Amino acid sequence: MAEKKIVLEAKDLYKSFPAGQGKDELHVLQGLNLEIEEGSITSIVGSSGSGKSTLLHILGGLDTADRGDVFWGGKNITEYKSDDLAEFRNRYIGFVFQFHHLLPEFTALENVAMPALIAGTSNKEAFARAQELLNLFGIEGRKNHRPTELSGGEQQRVSMARALMNHPKIILADEPTGNLDQDNTNIILDQLFELRDAVGVSVLLITHEKEIAERSDRILNLKKGILKPL
Ligand SMILES: Nc1ncnc2c1ncn2[C@@H]1O[C@H](COP(=O)(O)OP(=O)(O)O)[C@@H](O)[C@H]1O
Ligand SMILES: [Mg+2]
Repeated sequence: MAEKKIVLEAKDLYKSFPAGQGKDELHVLQGLNLEIEEGSITSIVGSSGSGKSTLLHILGGLDTADRGDVFWGGKNITEYKSDDLAEFRNRYIGFVFQFHHLLPEFTALENVAMPALIAGTSNKEAFARAQELLNLFGIEGRKNHRPTELSGGEQQRVSMARALMNHPKIILADEPTGNLDQDNTNIILDQLFELRDAVGVSVLLITHEKEIAERSDRILNLKKGILKPL
């Protein structure tokens, strides 16, 4: 069998935050290691404040660790200059957050097309793919609506479509269904699993819902600054 490709790897990550006056530093990540295989779905669970979001931001190049390295497809992102990193991130990673982070002044279609437009794709091509992705998530009828005119579930489906715009290698999702009802949660998750099967995108999902975690290939628990299989 062919060896599995590693799309994302963290080696010996440390991250601390200064605490309030007179208090000790907060040691959030303490020598954390992680490997994500191509086409895998990994869930990370952990109590509130255990460092899940901090980890996801560091893995996605939105924040930096105090020590340790992050590799995307074998390339050490800590060696990239910020402009190059932003460009690389836009192509390599699709982010989905708990709150949608859609741009309020743009329509659903424009929001989805944005990552491709930023990457220099022609309008025609970008909007055609954005349309396809809106179809995929069953929200093509809402394409000309702005975020405030969409329901929470629709906003999150638009976010997911946007995350997929540039054919990322990996989706990093931070409690993407945390604010959704069961129906919308199922739609989002079913779509994630279908996408993995259809295009082989890898998924790293932070969740506090046990049923969701149990559908993934593997569950890791973030505790005392490191990850362990649950
Ligand atoms: N920028 C920051 N400055 C200081 N403390 C922070 C910062 N970001 C996160 N923290 C603290 O680090 C800990 C981990 O936060 P976070 O990664 O958001 O946890 P989780 O997502 O698991 O709930 C928390 O105690 C939080 O208050
Ligand atoms: Mg969090």
